[in-house]
Amino acid sequence: MMEELQKENVYIKDAERVEKLLCQLIQDGKSKLQIITDFDMTLSRFSINGKRCATCHNVLENSSLVPESKKQVLDELRDTYYPIEINAKMTIEEKIPFMMEWWTKAQSTIVACNFRREDLTRAVRESNAMLRDGCDWQFSTLHEHKVPMLIFSAGIGDILEEIIKQHSQMYANMRVVSNYMDFNHDGMLVGFKGDLVHTYNKNEGALRNSDYFTTLKDRRNIILMGDSMGDLRMADGVPNMQHILKIGFLNDNIEERLEKYKEAYDIVLVSDSTMDVPNAILKKIL
Ligand code: TMP
Ligand code: MG
Repeated sequence: MMEELQKENVYIKDAERVEKLLCQLIQDGKSKLQIITDFDMTLSRFSINGKRCATCHNVLENSSLVPESKKQVLDELRDTYYPIEINAKMTIEEKIPFMMEWWTKAQSTIVACNFRREDLTRAVRESNAMLRDGCDWQFSTLHEHKVPMLIFSAGIGDILEEIIKQHSQMYANMRVVSNYMDFNHDGMLVGFKGDLVHTYNKNEGALRNSDYFTTLKDRRNIILMGDSMGDLRMADGVPNMQHILKIGFLNDNIEERLEKYKEAYDIVLVSDSTMDVPNAILKKIL
């Protein structure tokens, strides 16, 4: 077992199975590999010096372009629905209607703020959204080795791309599935495009993107990274999957959720602000 996997914040329920899985991924090599990852609180950092970092939505919420009255609405929505998102006792099915409500109400509040396309760069620059340490290395190395990376996010596509551009780089091997903003010909935000992606309907989004997975059908090994139980379904729709290694970041409500995360994810990283573990694994495979 690698040194990085022996740290005390790394939880592995079935070490023997994970070791076998890693050997298989290493043996099959980079030509069989693809990465599927969540964005908010997986690629992006959860907190810094005890203070929460912004999600894609928070970038807009906290920006000087949003009037106080709208900020209050978005804060109230978060205080109502975030505890449901991370509730350890509710099932995914029970959570889905609440997530639909949260995303729908948040989107219409955001649209009512009269954002312009060019405001996004500034909003991201003024925010404390940042990537986990090691993302920049991971992105450039995956690009160098031509390993495809799907970023599957219930956040906001335009914002996550801007966060990646400001803190690293968007590379040609990256593909994003997310909620993209719809701007009119004057550059004014008028809505969101396509089907809504929230935390717990990524399985449906995965099936809608089966064309993407079909073009990668020879890449039968997956490394999946997420921070929510909903992220486990991001690889639904991958044809002929052979091996999948699931790495889960557990950032919040830790004690209540650790057991469930250990059941669901092969490797659980508790309060880890880095990409050290996924990167150590990639170093062995590439
Ligand atoms: P994801 O990490 O699964 O892509 O989900 C996006 C995150 O965005 C999710 O953890 C909840 C968060 N969020 C906000 O912070 N504010 C909002 O208004 C909404 C709708 C979501
Ligand atoms: Mg997330």
